[in-house]
Amino acid sequence: MTSQPADNSQSGSIDHVLSEDRVFPPPAEFTQNAVISSVQQYDEMAAAARDTPDEFWRQEALEHLHWFEPFSDVCQWDAPDAKWFVGGKTNACYNCVDAHVEAGRGDKTAIIWEGEPGDARTLTYRELQREVAKCAEAYEQLGVGEGDVVSIYMPMTPELAIAMLACARIGAIHSVIFAGFSAESIADRNNDASAKLVITSDGLYRRGKVLPLKETVDEALAKSTTVEKCLVLRRTGGDETPMTEGRDVWWHDVVDTQPGELAAKPLDSETPLFILYTSGSTGKPKGILHTTAGYNLWARRTFEWVFDYRDDDIYWCTADCGWITGHSYIVYGPMTAGATCLMYEGAPNHPAEDRFWDLVERHKVTVLYTAPTAVRAFIKWGDEHVDKHDLSSLRLLGSVGEGINPEAWMWYHNKIGGGRCPIVDTWWQTETGGIMMSPLPGITPTKPSSCTKPLPGVMPKIVDELGNEVDSEHGGKLCISKPWPGMLRGIWGDRERFIEQYFSDVPGQYLTGDNARCDRDGYYWIMGRIDDVINVSGHRLSTIEVESALVSHPHVCEAAVVGRPDDLKGQAIAAFVTTTGRDTDDEFLKELKQHVRKQIGALAQPDDIRITSGLPKTRSGKIMRRLLRDVAAGRELVGDTSTLEDLASIAQLQDSE
Ligand code: PRX
Repeated sequence: MTSQPADNSQSGSIDHVLSEDRVFPPPAEFTQNAVISSVQQYDEMAAAARDTPDEFWRQEALEHLHWFEPFSDVCQWDAPDAKWFVGGKTNACYNCVDAHVEAGRGDKTAIIWEGEPGDARTLTYRELQREVAKCAEAYEQLGVGEGDVVSIYMPMTPELAIAMLACARIGAIHSVIFAGFSAESIADRNNDASAKLVITSDGLYRRGKVLPLKETVDEALAKSTTVEKCLVLRRTGGDETPMTEGRDVWWHDVVDTQPGELAAKPLDSETPLFILYTSGSTGKPKGILHTTAGYNLWARRTFEWVFDYRDDDIYWCTADCGWITGHSYIVYGPMTAGATCLMYEGAPNHPAEDRFWDLVERHKVTVLYTAPTAVRAFIKWGDEHVDKHDLSSLRLLGSVGEGINPEAWMWYHNKIGGGRCPIVDTWWQTETGGIMMSPLPGITPTKPSSCTKPLPGVMPKIVDELGNEVDSEHGGKLCISKPWPGMLRGIWGDRERFIEQYFSDVPGQYLTGDNARCDRDGYYWIMGRIDDVINVSGHRLSTIEVESALVSHPHVCEAAVVGRPDDLKGQAIAAFVTTTGRDTDDEFLKELKQHVRKQIGALAQPDDIRITSGLPKTRSGKIMRRLLRDVAAGRELVGDTSTLEDLASIAQLQDSE
């Protein structure tokens, strides 16, 4: 179906060309037992959070966090600076761990862990408390205390979560660096944050191979001027690990030998909890800062609302703790709620492409939270890997990180969810701390590819280039007009960039950097990054819609669409696609163009399509359209490529020109 867009090159709004009419109401079973179980309940919460935010959040904070000392003001907002639960004292580690032991739930399983080689471990909340206290004691022995920054560069082992929580226990600030980054990236992050301690492991298992993490860290430490100590976990074994006398210590020597009695320190609500570096589209990565109480509450409540948390859930978020998804929905959200979390160390296709489904079956996972890039990989690998396993334990599925194309959504719904599990397509960002828009699985009818509605306390607004609110059925820039507890508190050491990047387009409001539209039912549709918009003859098109039209062809697996300079139209549409099981001759390319034309109209028909065996992605799995723009225009690659997963995929595309 097509719309007939007018020339909107001046207004800055975005044309919407893809219609999605399918609607999936929540199953009755969900509505009956859900945490949020009626539209009326949601409406009341949303109204309270909008009209009397102080009262609403005061109540939430008192009920859902532990307070050593009460707070006075709920929120002090002097844009861009937010302070939440002012004057109170709490501790995120206490909320995640000790609170459950105190409440008599110490024997509940906190973490079910499985390593890539198949080794396994479980930790109860009581055991976790002991391990975290030991690690915190070791930090103190190593000279780390409140306000010091600890870089964590580790495989997905329980010790990674323990290391994070131990920082929170004493008020140290963690900066987790995904264990796929280069020595250069680690050194940049260490120096930017003035890290005092680095935690790593000897090695990491990935697709059956051992990667020598400590060697990479050593290279980084040669350029890290502020780091005094390096704590090393033995994960892969072997005795080749280089250790520098006086600087490097083994985890089993300094952590395992501690008594494990150190109590969580009462900390001011606004005590920095962590820095997490996220790549800007250009320039150096930004250290996004989150603080203690507001973030902790936001992570917990959004987890409980969106994942409809129940005490007997076996919850699995497949992200790595190196990303915000791991911070908020492996550690702080689920653990504050007291959930049992599955944590998996390795690749989804080791030893075979059914590893995830094998894990779901054996551990009887009830809630699965993963990314569109993974879903598209599963589709490509073939249904036979899924069909081997009993996935009937699943009751809810989540998606995060990118837009999920409607056809991938349908596959996820039918093949993984057996048609019975609601899908929560969660939209949020490193900066937002937690989920901002998502279906609530008990009450929200879902539409494939829409993140549906804002959570209570989230006030979205769609604006044009000048910052004026637009008719939201047309797309525009997505802003959040009011502060929320989980919002970022700054960019580490760069106030100017913080203001410029997020608060200058629409003064006093948070600019997300994404485009979105809102349909007549009040459902939001994320249209991609502002920088990714394609302007064809004055019509501004969102990449995701053209990509979704391509992906709806039965032989297309993934698609990335970018604009390239065109004398006549301003920009022409260049598409890069990966395919399954079909000859990729000229006939096929013609057919694909026709397919898009039929789906969404002549205006959005790609001018050229390149078939490729893979698309360039960030290490967190997002398609890197910025690089594809350069490839499509025949330009040299510019800007930061440090977050790119696989440089070879770009080289291959350049060669194919
Ligand atoms: O463009 C949006 C996209 O990912 C961006 C945030 O990326 P990051 O800070 O790495 O956090 C990822 C995990 C929350 C957003 O600005 N994005 C994330 N989730 C969605 C999405 N785009 C569409 N739909 C989503 N559900």
